[in-house]
Order: sequence, then structure tokens, then C-alpha cells
Amino acid sequence: MEIVKAQLEDIKAVKALADISLKAAHSVEYFEQKLGCFFYLAKEKDKILGFIIIDGLTVLLLVVEPGTRRQGVASSMVDFALKQFQQIFLKVRESNKAAIDFYRKTNWAYKGTAPHAFRNGEAGLIFTKKAQNLNTSA
Ligand SMILES: CC(C)(COP(=O)(O)OP(=O)(O)OC[C@H]1O[C@@H](n2cnc3c(N)ncnc32)[C@H](O)[C@@H]1OP(=O)(O)O)[C@@H](O)C(=O)NCCC(=O)NCCS
Repeated sequence: MEIVKAQLEDIKAVKALADISLKAAHSVEYFEQKLGCFFYLAKEKDKILGFIIIDGLTVLLLVVEPGTRRQGVASSMVDFALKQFQQIFLKVRESNKAAIDFYRKTNWAYKGTAPHAFRNGEAGLIFTKKAQNLNTSA
């Protein structure tokens, strides 16, 4: 598996993956606009296994293809992102038990709940993860 920057020609497949994985719909234009952000794909040969989009320090989307879940793909993308960012944040729907399990089990820190964080009025659980500073000489 490799982690590569998303390109315009990937957007159609990314949107298809988002459509089957997420509660809210995201337009092609939404993804096109995010090409200027930290927007990376996990790929195996030419197949997109997942993607991560970070705007500022906020993870907007983290998605893995249903047939490839529980194989460490999301963990790899987060580890990759934390080579570029000291700390990242996100809000996850309180109903998204699988994602909440993922964040808890991969050592994200829970920071609180934001009421009405999503368009449908749903609350969002705020999590953050820091990069592990391997430089212990300081
Ligand atoms: C959340 C999501 C990104 C996790 O991706 P993934 O590649 O399956 O995650 P990983 O394989 O790296 O999981 C690492 C660990 O997290 C935990 N975990 C992940 N998914 C889990 C689930 N559905 N239930 C319980 N624990 C889970 C496990 O401890 C797992 O390790 P294990 O498989 O050895 O037990 C994926 O389920 C997904 O795409 N969901 C739909 C989109 C979504 O809701 N994204 C988040 C909001 S944008």
C-alpha cells in the first residue's frame, strides 16, 4: 500500500467511496476544493483503499473502503498525517460507533462534545491526537 496525494482524476472514485461510507453527501466540487488541503489517498496498485482530508489542523474526512476495513489502513493514514502535523483534531458524529471505537482504540484523546455540530443537529465528539515526538534529546 502507498499513500499518495489526491489528484483531480481521483475525485470521481473518492466521491463514490464517500457516498457509500458517510451519512452526509459530498459533491464533486467539495472534493475538488479540498485538493489544496492535505488530501491523501491510500492506494494498492490503482485501487483507492481510503482517503484522508485535513484542512488546517482539522480532519474533515477519514474513510476506508468497506472491504478493506480492520486492516490498518486508517491507522496508516493517520500515522502518515502525524509526520506532517504536530497535532490534529476532529469531530465525529455521536452515532458513529465504529469511528468512535477506532479513535478510542488508536489512542486519540477525547476533548468534549459539541452540541449540534452537524447539519442534522447531531452532536459531535471532539478528539485530538498528537504526533509522537521521537526526539528525546531535548
Ligand atoms: C472509521 C474507519 C475510518 C476506520 O478505518 P479502518 O482502516 O478499518 O481502521 P483500522 O484498521 O486502522 O483500525 C484500527 C483499530 O481501530 C479499532 N476499530 C476500527 N474499526 C472498528 C470498528 N468498526 N469497531 C470496533 N473497533 C474498531 C480496532 O481496534 C482496530 O484494530 P483491530 O482491527 O486490530 O482490532 C472506517 O471504519 C470507515 O471508513 N468508516 C466509515 C467512514 C467514517 O465514519 N469515517 C469517520 C468519520 S469521517
